[in-house]
Amino acid sequence: MNKKIRIAVQSKGRLAKASLKFLASLGLKFNVEKRTLLAKCDNPKVEIIFLRDDDIPKYVEQGFADFGIVGENVICEKKFQVKVVKKLNFGLCSLVIAVPVKSLIKVVEDLTGQRIATSYPNLLKSFLEQREISAAVFKLKGSVEVAPALNFGDAICDLTQSGKTLKENGLKVIDKVMDSQAVLIAAPLGLMDFDFLI
Ligand code: PRP
Ligand code: ZN
Repeated sequence: MNKKIRIAVQSKGRLAKASLKFLASLGLKFNVEKRTLLAKCDNPKVEIIFLRDDDIPKYVEQGFADFGIVGENVICEKKFQVKVVKKLNFGLCSLVIAVPVKSLIKVVEDLTGQRIATSYPNLLKSFLEQREISAAVFKLKGSVEVAPALNFGDAICDLTQSGKTLKENGLKVIDKVMDSQAVLIAAPLGLMDFDFLI
C-alpha cells in the first residue's frame, strides 16, 4: 500500500505539544520547524499536518486527513461524522456554566430568561433543553469569560482546565455540561490497517 497516512494535529493551542508527544510515543520521528504546516516523518508513510483545531475534524471527515487529534468537545459541538478511535487521556477539561461570584444566579434553574455567552451553543442548548430551561444563548469565538463584566451576558458556558481564567475574571462554576479530553479520530470510512496508532 503506497498511500501516505496523514495525521492532523493542532498548530497551536492547548493540545499542540501533548499531541506531538503522543505521536512521538508511537515511535514517529519528525522534524517540526516553527512554521512547518506539513511535517514528514522518518517513516515515509506518515505525514503530520498542522491545522486550527476546528478544521481538524473537517479534514478527517472528508478524508483529506486519515487521523486527527482534537478535543472531544469540538466533535460533540458540531456533530462531525468521524470515528473516535481512542481517548488519549490528555487535555482533560470540562465545559461548565459559570456566573459572576456575586450573581443572584445560584443554580442552573435560575438561568431562565437570562443571557448566556458561549463558544459551544449546540452543547449548551441541548443541556438547557434537557433541563427544560429557557435562556438566550449567544455565540462568541473566544475570550468568553470577559462577557459578563461587559454586561454581554449574565452567565457563560466555556471550557475550564485549571480554573485560572474563571477565577481571574471573577466567575464561579454553577454546573457542568460535559467532561472532555483529547481524542484520536478517523474518517468514518477510513482504512483500518493503522494498528500502530491504536
Ligand atoms: C481556553 C478556554 C478557557 C481557558 C481555560 O481558552 O476557552 O477560556 O482556556 O483554561 P484554564 O481553566 O486553565 O484557565 P483559550 O486560552 O484557548 O482562549 P480562547 O477561548 O479565547 O480561544
Ligand atoms: Zn477561552
